Amino acid sequence: MALDLKMTRLKKASPAAIADAARCLRLGGLVAMPTETVYGLAADATSDKAVAAVYAAKERPAINPLIAHVLDIEAAREHGLFGPEAETLARAFWPGPLTLVLPVAPTSRISLLARAGLDTVAVRSPSHEAARALIEAAGVPLAAPSANRSGAVSPTTAAHVAADLTDRVDWILDAGPCRHGVESTIVACLGDWPQLLRPGAITREAIESALGAPIDAMSAARTAPNAPGQLPSHYAPKAELRLGAASVSPDEAALDFGGALRGARLSARLDLSPSGDLVEAAAHLFSYLRALDAAGAERIAVAPIPAHGLGAAINDRLRRAAAPRG
Ligand code: TXA
Ligand code: MG
Repeated sequence: MALDLKMTRLKKASPAAIADAARCLRLGGLVAMPTETVYGLAADATSDKAVAAVYAAKERPAINPLIAHVLDIEAAREHGLFGPEAETLARAFWPGPLTLVLPVAPTSRISLLARAGLDTVAVRSPSHEAARALIEAAGVPLAAPSANRSGAVSPTTAAHVAADLTDRVDWILDAGPCRHGVESTIVACLGDWPQLLRPGAITREAIESALGAPIDAMSAARTAPNAPGQLPSHYAPKAELRLGAASVSPDEAALDFGGALRGARLSARLDLSPSGDLVEAAAHLFSYLRALDAAGAERIAVAPIPAHGLGAAINDRLRRAAAPRG
C-alpha cells in the first residue's frame, strides 16, 4: 500500500477544529481523535479508499478488521443485527467503552475492507464528547483503530499519536490524556450467548451483572472465536518485559504496582498506582510503558497485577507486550 505523506495539523479539539477535521474525513482524510479509552485513527468507514489509508498509515495487516464508531444504538442498527443480549449490553454500557461484534445487517454501508471481508461487524458508541462531536459532524460511521503503528503501544495522549503517526495523518485532535487508558471491551453477540473477545475498560464483572449470568460458564461449551487482531505480540514497547517480578535486578527498570518493587536500586521506576488502584493503573499503563522506553530501559520488571476487575485488561495487554516479537 502506498503511503502518502501529509502535513499533520495538531490542534486542541475545539468546535472549530472538529468541524475542519470532519470536513477532512468527508473528503477521505485521516483524523486522530480522542476517545475515553485510547486515541483512535478515524476514517470514513463507508469509504474503501479512506479505510485502505488507515491500514497503510498503521502498517496494519488487512486481515485485522476495524471498529465502526457510531453515535448510538439507532445508528448501530443500520450496520449490525442486535439480538436480545446485544440490546441489553448496548443499553447498559453505551455510550462507553464496549464494542459489540454483530452479524452484519443487510443495510450496512461499512466498507468490506473495514470488516476484513467478514460477515460480522464491530460497532461501538464512544462517550468522549470530542469523538461524538466528530462522528456527528462527519455524518458517517468512523472506522477507528488505536492511533499507533500496528503492534506498538497504544496512544493515550495526542503526543503519543504525533510520535507514531506524524506525516501519516491529516489531523490530530488533542483533548488531553484518555480517561480509561485501555481499549474497549469486545463482546461478540453472534450465537446463543455473548462471548468476551477482548478484556477492556468495562470489566467482565460489570458485563455479567448486566446479563445476569456468567459470561464464561455460558460459553464454555463453545469454541471462542478470537478477535483477529488479538495477535500474541502486540502493545509492545522497545524494551523487553519480565512479568510478575518480585524483585528487580540492577540492569532493569521497574513498572511497579502498589509500591511492591519500592526500594530496589533502579535506573527507573514508575508506579502504575502507588495506592494499588486498578482504575488508575489502567489509565497509566501505556504512557508509562512509553516513558520507560523513552528513558532508554532495555528490560522492564513488572510487578504482579491483581487479576480481578480492570486487572484482566491490564494483564492481557502486559502478556501481549511481553510475548516474543513476530
Ligand atoms: O477502545 C477501542 O476499542 C479503540 C478506540 C479507538 O475506540 N479502538 C481499538 O481498535 O482498540 P483496534 O483496531 O486497535 O482494535 C480492534 C479490535 C481488533 O482486535 C480487531 O481484530 C477486533 O477489534 N475486531 C474488529 N472487528 C471484528 C470482527 N468483526 N470480529 C472480531 N473481532 C473484530
Ligand atoms: Mg490497537
